[in-house]
Amino acid sequence: MTAETMRAIVFDGYGDASVLREARLPCPVPQPGQMLVRVCAIGVNPADGKWRSGMFARTRPLQFPQVPGYDVAGEVVYSEDAAMPPGTRVAAMLDALVQGAYAEYAAVAPRSAAPIADTLSFEAAATLPTPGLTGVQLIEEQLDVQPGETVLLTGATGAVGRFALHAARARGARVVAAVRAKHVDTAIALGAAQAIVLGEQQWTGAPFDHVADTVGGALVADLCRHVRAGGRIRTVSTTPIPAEGLPCTPGFFGVHADADRLARLAQAAGAGALEVAIAARFPLVQAADAQRLVDAGSAGGKVVLIP
Ligand SMILES: NC(=O)c1ccc[n+]([C@@H]2O[C@H](COP(=O)([O-])OP(=O)(O)OC[C@H]3O[C@@H](n4cnc5c(N)ncnc54)[C@H](OP(=O)(O)O)[C@@H]3O)[C@@H](O)[C@H]2O)c1
Repeated sequence: MTAETMRAIVFDGYGDASVLREARLPCPVPQPGQMLVRVCAIGVNPADGKWRSGMFARTRPLQFPQVPGYDVAGEVVYSEDAAMPPGTRVAAMLDALVQGAYAEYAAVAPRSAAPIADTLSFEAAATLPTPGLTGVQLIEEQLDVQPGETVLLTGATGAVGRFALHAARARGARVVAAVRAKHVDTAIALGAAQAIVLGEQQWTGAPFDHVADTVGGALVADLCRHVRAGGRIRTVSTTPIPAEGLPCTPGFFGVHADADRLARLAQAAGAGALEVAIAARFPLVQAADAQRLVDAGSAGGKVVLIP
């Protein structure tokens, strides 16, 4: 039996993290085909603060009060999906335009969710959906990286970067990581063939086949000049890569729901083959502190909320 109301975090207008407040809301009513999930952990993403600040207000206006967040892990409490009956432990990425993760319950479409192994904690599972799918889709769908190719990966030790690095190596590619100086050793330990300091070191090696970017901006553009003719540049950053003088136009892409790849990520994480460190955990009521930490950048891992 599900409670009729739940604790949630909402905001009533765009602004800094102080606009977030705790509220008691009706539990979501699953639409036909949807499941209801009791949320046990929430992954806080850089995008959460961007939506809250109004960065996308002109093109994608939110409806207020808005419950933020996309990434949840928890237990199914209602489902008509035979593959994920009540009691199933799942991870899910909620619809970007609806969101609703910062709450005790979430309505989830099965196409956005995947079962997780008992060996995977809810906290670890909540780090997977958005960063994991973004990293894997960047390498597999957007760049279609092939064995033996060389990929420049910026921000390779960040959340998206780590999953992209893992996916590129799984495809047999060679990764050149462009990171801050303090992350060079980590990038090599994660499997990058080489690591250079973004903005400090020039590239003098053979041309890159592709660029997978999670940082954006002019410093990345400098490295993009070294993409071979016919190569591709894809970015997930909201800071554009200036295109002037580049061998190809950088293309932005947005992550999309992908249950099969999420299941693959969950299996790899459950087997211990894939992990993003958790930098901080906050109770749900401290969502504003959690977003401030993520908004400031350089958190050193994922930030997780616990309802
Ligand atoms: N388009 C989409 O669908 C989509 C999906 C997910 C994420 N994103 C975006 O992708 C970006 C990365 O997300 P994330 O979750 O991976 O964030 P993250 O975990 O904070 O990782 C960002 C990484 O980039 C590094 N970095 C930032 N600025 C840098 C610079 N100037 N030089 C070198 N390294 C730099 C960071 O290093 P430090 O930690 O040392 O600062 C960190 O390693 C964000 O802008 C996010 O909004 C987009």
